[in-house]
Amino acid sequence: MANTRIILSTFALFSVMALFTACSAGGDNPGYEYAPNMYHGFGYEPLSQKEDEPNTINPHGMNMREPVKGTVARGQQDFANYSFTVSNESYEASASLKNPVASSPKVIAEGQTLYNINCTPCHGDKGLGDGTIVSAGKFPPPPSYDSDRIKTTPDGKMFYSIRYGKNLMGAYGTVLTPNQIWKVVHYIRTVSGPYKGASNVTASK
Ligand code: HEC
Repeated sequence: MANTRIILSTFALFSVMALFTACSAGGDNPGYEYAPNMYHGFGYEPLSQKEDEPNTINPHGMNMREPVKGTVARGQQDFANYSFTVSNESYEASASLKNPVASSPKVIAEGQTLYNINCTPCHGDKGLGDGTIVSAGKFPPPPSYDSDRIKTTPDGKMFYSIRYGKNLMGAYGTVLTPNQIWKVVHYIRTVSGPYKGASNVTASK
């Protein structure tokens, strides 16, 4: 009789412990949930996608809707104006582009900062085509900004070459926004050549 009581009370004790441990939340376990569909939404999550459960409503089985064609993200409007295909014809056509950014000491200083970060290894501090990797013999020298060739290159073509690349020079369209590229073009124009000081601004060194 005493034995049965011990067994029963031990059983009761373990049941109570099991009850408590089974319900306690922790880690990924939310514990016991009453009517979970009241607070776990079954809606499609736009930023997550289960590959084995394609969305049956939206195109391509995607939860996220594609933006309307031609949509430009807020703050990126300047991208909308330049949708060239990469070709020699586009390079020639870019000659007519005008620099839409007004020059100012601030703009030139910004252009200089971007130039120093991205371009000096090849083009050099002063744009003379003598950057560190060129003088180390690792890369053929780019044309000096002080050369006749670059002096006569229109702003638009410079913009095109920086954005889409040209021969050995890589494209910077994914690194610099169109607006930033135009600022760099302003800076290049003040570094050397007949445009030197054309904006009456000397970039601070
Ligand atoms: C890896 C070396 C390298 C880097 C980095 C580089 N360039 Fe160049 N760049 C070149 C070479 C080489 C050319 C000559 C391309 C040609 O005409 O064949 C060139 C040409 C140019 C031209 C003349 C384009 C034309 O239409 O003739 C401009 C302007 C220019 N670079 C600006 C920049 C700017 C601004 C940056 C930084 C955002 C930059 N480059 C970064 C190597 C480089």
